[in-house]
Order: sequence, then structure tokens, then C-alpha cells
Amino acid sequence: MALLRRRMKLLVTVVMVNLFIFILISRHNGQDKGDIHKVQIPNKPFWAKIVPNKAYWNLQQQVLDLQNNPILAGNYSTEDLPDWLNDTELISDPCRPDLKVNTRVKDYNSLPGRFKDFLVYMRCRSYPLLVDQPDLCADPPFLLLAIKSLAPHFDRRQAIRESWGRAGVLANRTVKTVFLLGNTSEVDHHPDLSGMLRYESALHHDIVQWDYRDSFFNLTVKEVLFLGWIQARCTGARYVFKGDDDVFVNTYSILNFLGGLSGPKARDLFVGDVITNAGPHRDKKLKYFIPESMYVGMYPPYAGGGGYLYSGDLASRLHNVSQRVTLYPIDDVYTGMCLRKLGLAPEKHKGFRTFDIEEKYRANPCAYKSLMLVHPRTPQEMIQIWAWLSDPNLNCQ
Ligand SMILES: *[C@@H]1O[C@H](CO)[C@@H](O)[C@H](O)[C@H]1NC(C)=O
Ligand SMILES: *[C@@H]1O[C@H](CO)[C@@H](O)[C@H](O)[C@H]1NC(C)=O
Ligand SMILES: *[C@@H]1O[C@H](CO)[C@@H](O)[C@H](O)[C@H]1NC(C)=O
Ligand SMILES: *[C@@H]1O[C@H](CO)[C@@H](O)[C@H](O)[C@H]1NC(C)=O
Ligand SMILES: *[C@@H]1O[C@H](CO)[C@@H](O)[C@H](O)[C@H]1NC(C)=O
Ligand SMILES: *[C@@H]1O[C@H](CO)[C@@H](O)[C@H](O)[C@H]1NC(C)=O
Repeated sequence: MALLRRRMKLLVTVVMVNLFIFILISRHNGQDKGDIHKVQIPNKPFWAKIVPNKAYWNLQQQVLDLQNNPILAGNYSTEDLPDWLNDTELISDPCRPDLKVNTRVKDYNSLPGRFKDFLVYMRCRSYPLLVDQPDLCADPPFLLLAIKSLAPHFDRRQAIRESWGRAGVLANRTVKTVFLLGNTSEVDHHPDLSGMLRYESALHHDIVQWDYRDSFFNLTVKEVLFLGWIQARCTGARYVFKGDDDVFVNTYSILNFLGGLSGPKARDLFVGDVITNAGPHRDKKLKYFIPESMYVGMYPPYAGGGGYLYSGDLASRLHNVSQRVTLYPIDDVYTGMCLRKLGLAPEKHKGFRTFDIEEKYRANPCAYKSLMLVHPRTPQEMIQIWAWLSDPNLNCQ
């Protein structure tokens, strides 16, 4: 009994002491809050001498950061950086092929061809417009659907026009559709489709095409050119969806979601199938392989390029900031990098199913009712699913 009483006493004492310390700390913090004027100013420069990164992308980004930060720029001279970074010929004409890059990336000669192609034109961000739609947004749409396509994908584009990408008024909102194309070049042994594209464009007025080689590693060029195009042609669009031509988009569901947004949530909107804690693949056999001589570090959170949704307001900020982010060969990672530079992160929405839904639900019309995007779908499947969703008798609980 005595033992128990002693223990109780000890416990009470410990609790009292803790409470006392807690009160002391809280009072102290409270006092600090009023002390906001006390800013410590360092009397010596607090930045370290710049250490050039060994990976080529990271190094290019360091240079861009230096050029765009007046405080840093005033404190570093190009003596701190390798001489060749101040290549005046390249700076004055970034679209000139960088024929010295093979001496600057240490394993350049052993890299797969797509990396060589990328590195030689890495600084070029402007290519001529071959086909434009200057009046597409004369009447600014609520939602602009921008679809990355390739010249030969005529059937995919037509299926999108006949289904989820039908331009016009849907659920009392205006929707416009535009297809983003590069050039299929003779280098890649493509047949000449330019006559058929001209016909398609005259028929539908929804093709925008630039004269650059439409390859996987040039999708970032497509992204940057598109951001520029919105600034020139479609700043009035309230929201933008950008995605691939092999996805099904439930446009009803997207409009319903957007209709419920307002304030900062609407202004900073960027949603999709977000990938976090990813980094470059180092296995040479993978599609997403990136050598260490090119990039080191993790990737910022990014939304899978199959399709994501953002505000028109953010589109203009992305356009601005993209000029301060070095082109990266994977387009969705690049967009994540731009968002990070804006101090934003994409938001995950479980309606974006870039890795598809379970097989047993794929033929069930109701499985698509509340989704925003499913990947992949063929042109025939797009038309079928759209017919299901547009049927007023579709009854899902
Ligand atoms: C850094 O730049 C600022 C402003 O340009 C200048 O006042 C300061 O002296 C510089 N410091 C060094 C170490 O060069
Ligand atoms: C690059 O070099 C030129 C002359 O060689 C010089 O005038 C210029 O200031 C340098 N650029 C930078 C950013 O230091
Ligand atoms: C349709 O949209 C217009 C303009 O956005 C709005 O004024 C009108 O009330 C809407 N009609 C319905 C039925 O929601
Ligand atoms: C685009 O690609 C076509 C077909 O390969 C080629 O003939 C043409 O020269 C390229 N460039 C332009 C500006 O059309
Ligand atoms: C990107 O396009 C440019 C211009 O057509 C081309 O020179 C370059 O090789 C392309 N890059 C890749 C990685 O295909
Ligand atoms: C683009 O960003 C710069 C800062 O980097 C800012 O001064 C400028 O106002 C921005 N322009 C637009 C159109 O937002």
C-alpha cells in the first residue's frame, strides 16, 4: 500500500514538473510572436561558391538560374563556370545545332541516338507554325481540350471528334478541341501525309502543327510550343485539358467537377494522376531511361502525361516560368518541374486512371460514369463508351 502511495506521489510530481515546463515554453513562444521586427542580417555573404553540376541538364539549369537571379548573377562571374557555358553563338541563336555537345557530355558517343538528337537541339524552343487556328478561341471556351496526336492518327482524331472531344456546348458549357501535331519527317521514313492533313484541317479547323520532328523526346517541345500558342490564341479559356489521343475522357464528369470550383482552388487548379517520389530510370532498356551524365536527382511530383486538367490562369504562369526551366526529354516530368518552380504541386484525383480500371469493369457502362479519364482506349471503344454515357436511360446507382 505504502509502495503504491509513493508511486502515486512520484507520478503527480512528474506531471506537475512537465506542466510547469510546458507553461514556461508556451509563455516564451507567446512573447516571441510579438518580436517580428528582430531580423538577423548576416554581415558576410551567406552563399557558397557555385559548384558546377556534373550532369548536363542540372548544369544547364544552374546556368539558367544564375541568369535569372539578379542577386546571384551579381555575385558570380562566368569564371566560376566552365568557359563553354558562355557560348555566345549558341546564346544568340539557340536553335543552331550544338555540335560541340559531344565534348560536353562525357558518355555522349555511347548514348542511344534519341539522346544525341535531344542534346544537339536542347536549347531550341521555337519552331515555325505550319498550320494554325487563329480564330479557334474567338469566342473563349470554358474548356479547351488539347490533344497530343501524330499526323498518321487520323482515326483516333476522328473518334475523339465524334465522342468525348465533340466541340460545342455540353452541359451548358462551351468546349473547344485542338489537336497538337509536329511534323512526321522523312528522316523517320514516314510517307508524305501533308495533303491529307491539309484536307483534314480545312474540314475540321482543329489542327495546329509545328515544323519539328514529332518524336517521343520532342514532346516537351510540343508542351512549350502549346503554352506559347495558348498565350497567343486562347488566353480566354477558363480551363485546359491536355492529354494523349489514346485516352477516353469523360467530358461530362470533368465539366461537373470544374463547375464546382471557385477562388484559389480554381485559379491554381492542376489535377491528374500524380506520381510522387519518382526518379530517373537507369536501366538502358527502358523507354524512360535517363543516363546519369544527363540528370541527377529525384523528380518533382508530376501528373502522368496521359491527361491532366489545369486552369487557364495557370497556363499563362506555366508559359512564363517554362522559359526558366531547361528542356527535359520527358514532357510530364518537365511540366512537374515548371510547377515546382511556381511553388505549386499537382493534385492527385482518383478519377484519372492512366493505368486503366480493373478488367472486369471495363465493359460496364456505369464504371465510367464518375471517372474523368481512362487509358488506353481504341477509337472504337471511345465511341462505344461515349454512347453509353450519353444515353439518357443509363441508370447507375
Ligand atoms: C553580391 O551582390 C551584391 C549586389 O549585387 C553586392 O552588393 C555584394 O557586394 C556582392 N557580394 C559579393 C561577395 O560579391
Ligand atoms: C560571355 O562572354 C562575353 C565575351 O566573351 C562577355 O561579354 C559576356 O559578359 C559573358 N557573359 C556572361 C554571362 O558573363
Ligand atoms: C447556362 O450558362 C449561362 C452562362 O454561363 C447561364 O447564364 C445560364 O443560367 C445557364 N443555364 C442553365 C440551365 O444552367
Ligand atoms: C515536314 O514533313 C514533310 C514530310 O516528311 C516534309 O516534306 C517537309 O519538308 C517537312 N517540313 C515542312 C516545313 O513541311
Ligand atoms: C526534335 O526536333 C528537331 C527539329 O525537327 C530535331 O532536329 C531533333 O532531332 C528532334 N529531337 C528528337 C529527340 O527527336
Ligand atoms: C513572368 O515572371 C516574371 C518573374 O520571373 C515576372 O516579373 C513577370 O511579371 C511575369 N510575367 C507574367 C506575364 O506573368
